[in-house]
Amino acid sequence: MSPLSFPQADATRRATDDERAAILAAPGFGQHFADFMAHARWNAEGGWGGDELVPYGPLSLDPATAVFHYAQEIFEGLKAFRHEDGSVWTFRPEKNAERMQASARRLALPELPTEDFLASLRTVTAADEPWVPAVDPSAEHSLYLRPFMFASESFLGVRASHTVDYYVIASPAGDYFPRGVEPLVVWISDTYARAGAGGTGAAKCGGNYASSLLGKKEAAEHGADEVLFLDSETHTRIDELSGMNVFAITADGRIVTPELSGSILPGVTRDSILQLAADRGLAPAEERLDMSSVLDQVTSGDIVEMFACGTAAVITPIGEFRSKDGSWPVGGGGSGEHTLALRKELTDIQYGRAEDRHGWLTRLV
Ligand code: COI
Repeated sequence: MSPLSFPQADATRRATDDERAAILAAPGFGQHFADFMAHARWNAEGGWGGDELVPYGPLSLDPATAVFHYAQEIFEGLKAFRHEDGSVWTFRPEKNAERMQASARRLALPELPTEDFLASLRTVTAADEPWVPAVDPSAEHSLYLRPFMFASESFLGVRASHTVDYYVIASPAGDYFPRGVEPLVVWISDTYARAGAGGTGAAKCGGNYASSLLGKKEAAEHGADEVLFLDSETHTRIDELSGMNVFAITADGRIVTPELSGSILPGVTRDSILQLAADRGLAPAEERLDMSSVLDQVTSGDIVEMFACGTAAVITPIGEFRSKDGSWPVGGGGSGEHTLALRKELTDIQYGRAEDRHGWLTRLV
């Protein structure tokens, strides 16, 4: 039954004011969770229903629940930002709703209508409003919203689940990377691919992230912060990092990101950067990026800046590439001028410090 309104049954909070204040002083990323979560259930006969707002807590699931076995699961990531007047806003949520619908189609899950997706974000953020960090331009904290949907039928046959559960949880967030906005060292993986042609690379499903983990482990073993995956067929073209898109800026003012080949996630931050870069007079392009040519251009100085981007990572400079064949400092290894300016402009819009000239903000509370 749609539209969903996620009524609240039990208003018990988990954290005291002091506990919450201690967490909000240094939230990290993905370590602490707000008091309430939204939930709805879908079944093949009745569609979506059972919507409720419940205290955050463990789920009790049958060991035969399909998601444990066949990974039929998708998720999203957005942030809620506190503005100076106390109001709380999020960034381009319709894009996340549409992407979740596209992910659902690919994973044979039911599509959640955009109005229900937005209702779930509003309801959780309103209930968890004390968890939205206060305005602090030096810290840029937010409340990270994580909608997710999974196959909840207890059945071991391989087919699309007849029951599906949807939740939204909220987590106060600081910097995604432990070193903050310091330039990343990125390991180029020529061993593993994240996604292949015809696969699920363009969907935001847990399996893509699971397949990135060994590459991330390999990166860490080589002292790198992140791993860059190449295309699975030729191992020559740049795809993306473990959970972020990638951009290069050239000395002659082009800003280039890999085209949406079907194995790359269509990032909301990626899309917004293409627009903001054009506004700044850079020439945006989405095209195939050949890894060895990029390294040559990094060495020659034709590429002056590179960065990673995503909701969680925002815009984080890449200071060095590493592989088993060597290492390549990017633009002298520091944080590029355009990279930091784009990051500032994006976050200024998100926190209400700059005009929302593209109409990207939606008020939640
Ligand atoms: C996000 O940026 O929201 C993601 O889902 C990626 C993950 C690395 C946290």
